[in-house]
Amino acid sequence: MTKTDLENTPDRRWANTLTEYLARYNITLGENPRILNIGCGKNVTWNFLGVLFYLASHDLGFPDYVGVDVTEEAFGDGKRALGDLVTFVPCDARDLGNHVKGPFHLVIIEHPNLSTSPEGPRIWGKIFQEAGELLDDNGVLILTSFWLNDHIPAQIALERCHYRILYSGRNQFPGRRFDTSSSGEPLVMEKYILLARKGTRRIGPQDRQQ
Ligand SMILES: C[S@@+](CC[C@H](N)C(=O)[O-])C[C@H]1O[C@@H](n2cnc3c(N)ncnc32)[C@H](O)[C@@H]1O
Repeated sequence: MTKTDLENTPDRRWANTLTEYLARYNITLGENPRILNIGCGKNVTWNFLGVLFYLASHDLGFPDYVGVDVTEEAFGDGKRALGDLVTFVPCDARDLGNHVKGPFHLVIIEHPNLSTSPEGPRIWGKIFQEAGELLDDNGVLILTSFWLNDHIPAQIALERCHYRILYSGRNQFPGRRFDTSSSGEPLVMEKYILLARKGTRRIGPQDRQQ
């Protein structure tokens, strides 16, 4: 394994991503921030370690980190690896507010599957709404995608929920290429990234989708 390989592990990439993009948009986290990872799957382990690197290098202590996914199986490997370091909540995130208490300073959504079904954008739109209600007023939501088919609808859905997009585009710290789409697009872990804050207009019951 080369030095470059060691610097390009997913946890290192997450630490670099947080360092670069939070600084670029003057976003500061307080000590022991609350962090919510929605649709966390088993890759939650890498994100959690990346967050730890970031917090340690900024003297910000230890996070109160919550990982949510639909079923226990979805985050089973992550739970076995991380144990009590993370609070795992099995639930449909469309109903997040009834399972998790805010506010959170950082909401992470890695590779939400908006394009898997025609209902995808609507499902995730509802999840983004719920997340907005749990996001601290000074907090930030970071969403990554491995192809444009998820990235663009995610941005549209966030804007519909009145988030203010700070950045949308290629991630400076992408991961490995794992496939190619039928149209020839290389599918790459964390290829695109979105940073969003709550907009000035409050997300409220009037925005609820049924
Ligand atoms: C493409 S996977 C990404 C998993 C992980 N974040 C990663 O980057 O490897 C999408 C994840 O979203 C979860 N998910 C889909 N719909 C959800 C919902 N309604 N509530 C909670 N999680 C959901 C899935 O179970 C799955 O783990």
